[in-house]
Amino acid sequence: MKFFVDTAEISEIRELYEAGLLDGVTTNPSLVAKSGRDFKEVVKEICGVVPGPVSAEVAATDYEGMLAEGRVLAALASNVVVKVPLTFAGLKACKTFREEGIKVNVTLCFSPNQALLAAKVGATYISPFIGRLDDINTEGMELIEQIRTIYDNYNFETEILAASIRSPNHVTQAALAGADVATIPAAVIKKLASHPLTDIGLENFVNDWKKTGQSIV
Ligand code: E4P
Repeated sequence: MKFFVDTAEISEIRELYEAGLLDGVTTNPSLVAKSGRDFKEVVKEICGVVPGPVSAEVAATDYEGMLAEGRVLAALASNVVVKVPLTFAGLKACKTFREEGIKVNVTLCFSPNQALLAAKVGATYISPFIGRLDDINTEGMELIEQIRTIYDNYNFETEILAASIRSPNHVTQAALAGADVATIPAAVIKKLASHPLTDIGLENFVNDWKKTGQSIV
């Protein structure tokens, strides 16, 4: 499973990329607003750090507006993936972008039928939002399983990008369900490395090593 980080913070992106843990980046208007920075500048800077796919979302909600904005975003760097909402206009824009050779991430997916439509218009990625489904007392991960089955039934090439990931358990469950990618907040990626038994075991090894009085270098 590929790891994307879900952030517009350059320092988080750089740290994870240099650690070899990052295959790509997703941003959204809320994350850009939180960063307080110029959107296009941020996208260009992220694309300079990470060679993998970087999703940049359109702000328009109408077809023509999405086309105009998406073309500007796609011209910022060769690894930009234009993100469009899963609406009828967004699906139409996705089809046009794909005909123009622009990669598309169709976002805000909450049902298997929406994912089916995104695959039919050639989306590069479909982003089902796991955490937001959990928030309304439904089982978000079931959506990943359903989309996996549908895409495999018909050999769709659209990649399943598990989004709205909130915890290490979400990451495990997305991997078990066969998501192609998970986009994860930086803090959650870091938590994946932690285990209390690792900490205890390491402390014991360090203490025992001191007793040997030796040094390796
Ligand atoms: C995905 O591309 C979205 O940016 C993100 O995963 C949404 O997560 P949230 O529901 O935690 O805001």
